[in-house]
Amino acid sequence: MAVSQQVFLRDAMRRLNLTRDVFAARIGVKRRALDTWLLPEGSQEARSMPEVVSRFVTEIVENGALMEKYAQSAQSGSLRDRIAIDNKHQLLSVDQFTRESVEELCRVADLMQPIARRQKVSRVLEGAVLGNLFFEASTRTRVSFGAAFCRLGGSVCDTTGFTFSSMAKGESIYDTSRVMSGYVDAMVIRHPDKGSVAEFAAATNIPVVNGGDGAGEHPSQALLDLYTILTEFSRLGKLLDGAHIVMAGDLKYGRTVHSLIKLLALYRGMKFTLVSPPGLEMPDYLLEQASKNGHVIEQTHDLAAGLKGADVIYATRVQKERFSGENLEGYSADFQVDRALVDACCGPDVIVMHPLPRDSREGAHDLSTDLNHDPRLAIFRQADNGIPVRMAIFAVLLGVESLVQHSLRDVTWTPPSHIGPDDSVFHGMY
Ligand code: CP
Repeated sequence: MAVSQQVFLRDAMRRLNLTRDVFAARIGVKRRALDTWLLPEGSQEARSMPEVVSRFVTEIVENGALMEKYAQSAQSGSLRDRIAIDNKHQLLSVDQFTRESVEELCRVADLMQPIARRQKVSRVLEGAVLGNLFFEASTRTRVSFGAAFCRLGGSVCDTTGFTFSSMAKGESIYDTSRVMSGYVDAMVIRHPDKGSVAEFAAATNIPVVNGGDGAGEHPSQALLDLYTILTEFSRLGKLLDGAHIVMAGDLKYGRTVHSLIKLLALYRGMKFTLVSPPGLEMPDYLLEQASKNGHVIEQTHDLAAGLKGADVIYATRVQKERFSGENLEGYSADFQVDRALVDACCGPDVIVMHPLPRDSREGAHDLSTDLNHDPRLAIFRQADNGIPVRMAIFAVLLGVESLVQHSLRDVTWTPPSHIGPDDSVFHGMY
């Protein structure tokens, strides 16, 4: 080889227009191996690429037609491979998605709706077992991930809290993750420490899904939030590009908004109004990331002013369990999103969202219950979307999404026509 191995590989990736992850997947090698071949000669970790790989890459870059085929197939490779991290099929952060791939996941979620709405059943995950490891409180994420896996024909084993896990006896994340990998085929993990789910993922080759890591991310929540916005906008005849999204509440510790703003920033011409009490503003690194694409970002402490002209109001709870020195029991009364404020500041086609749980205790001033009978309140439709979206996540990570359509059978029982007493005609099962 006339040039160094590093120059040769970098040139090949540039000419094919592929990232390291995709290039490694395309030539069938581990990302970690590729990384060692790209290290400068003389570095301790550097390795020589095998002759067979060199010949294979040379053949691709020297043959125009073959190169085109490889470049194209990389763009249209499976969704599972395109969102992989280091060739592992995991969901740790929304950073794994592009606009194209996130919309593809939404289309898989659409396929799941007949199952989520209890009209059809599927057994594509028959025999597979999910390990649900929740070291923090949860209702929606834990149960809906479990239900989603069961509705695809799999079964679920879970552990909740540190007390009933051997972590209470000092077991490490590495040992716990490796041991669980011998028992189950996928894991969903919620843990109070930011970055801890990535540690679990590093210790296993089975799919791992981040069910919330401290004040870090909550990617599956953001995916179902985006799916909800796209579904509601489609019903209302609106486009997401150019929309005005208001995020209100504890934006410092609310991990759902951290993931959601990054996903929404994949769209064009967005306006984000971020309304928080003083001291609970969105972290700077997220503001920088979200403003990269030229979106308008405004920050205010004045809720009524911030809500003006909103297409989406996304309210959040005070994340008191993650406070470090802050002193706030709840929002002030003038910080509560309620019907009078929504009527005064927004149009008839605004949608009001909240990741839930909302804090219904007196003095919390979380999203008001006086919107419960208002069709603009999308919170229960949003929570329901947790099922098809989480089914889509499992189907993609376990590589069965193309089998779902042909696996559908009619249910044998009679489900209710509307799941909740207040469901409007555009929701429920139809
Ligand atoms: N939205 C959400 O993560 O809810 P849970 O805490 O109940 O899982």
